[in-house]
Amino acid sequence: MNAAAAPAGRTAPDGSPYPDRTLPTFERDVRRMFTHIAERYEWFDHVASLGNDYLWRPRALWDLDRFRPDRRTDRVLDLGCGTGELARQVASHYPGARVFAADFTRAMLVRAARSSEGRREAGRLAFGRATALRLPFADGSFDVVTNAFVARNLSDLPRALAEMRRVLRPGGALLTLEITEPASPRFNRLFHAYFDRVVPSLGAIVGSEGPYRYLPESLRSLPSRERFLDALGAAGFARTGARAQSMGIVTAFLGAAESRRGP
Ligand SMILES: C[S@@+](CC[C@H](N)C(=O)[O-])C[C@H]1O[C@@H](n2cnc3c(N)ncnc32)[C@H](O)[C@@H]1O
Repeated sequence: MNAAAAPAGRTAPDGSPYPDRTLPTFERDVRRMFTHIAERYEWFDHVASLGNDYLWRPRALWDLDRFRPDRRTDRVLDLGCGTGELARQVASHYPGARVFAADFTRAMLVRAARSSEGRREAGRLAFGRATALRLPFADGSFDVVTNAFVARNLSDLPRALAEMRRVLRPGGALLTLEITEPASPRFNRLFHAYFDRVVPSLGAIVGSEGPYRYLPESLRSLPSRERFLDALGAAGFARTGARAQSMGIVTAFLGAAESRRGP
């Protein structure tokens, strides 16, 4: 079925897109949702995370460096780059690297390119359209693959992880940063009250009730930390790890592609 012929996906009462994972239109609706929020995405993210997201991405890159013994970093793919926050941080963190930042939502890429203009690292950044489920890169193209807050939006997580593994060179490494359930039951209750009630109400104020009702639903669709690590193993990562931040609200999942053995 082509996109024009596909039935309309779910919408919230304010008319904003509200993706439903069980519908065949899910991927298209995720793109509609990110198109809808592209202009407000960054500042809303800073507000909803109470500023913590400023720390999460740099800390995850630090975790990645400690995780991988092979530090050669010439080519990096940042997948689901959105407005390019992580891609720009990756480019300044690895000053010798070229960073390919890919996303399947054009409006986010437009915003990313605009925000990157005039930045010192802009010459080493390239933005382009791609879906995580079929990456348009040859096997072994990258030293590092990163993605932040993308996993819970994927219609087929195992397939996307296998694609990320495929495009990593032997000895390369993956960083997947994602919102996760805090381990402490008391803090977990607070976490759910915040994401289930406060964040959707903030979303409704800015005409985006659907996207910010979808957010807590999408968190529930993610596997547990243990099962996420199993999924990384099943995708072909030889060594895996998880590093929690902010009492477990976010986790950096790490995967090492097996190094080529000596002769
Ligand atoms: C929550 S935003 C995260 C953006 C950015 N990584 C950050 O740290 O702020 C998720 C992004 O993933 C993109 N995305 C979701 N599913 C995708 C897919 N299957 N292929 C490529 N991009 C995807 C969306 O378009 C959106 O820009």
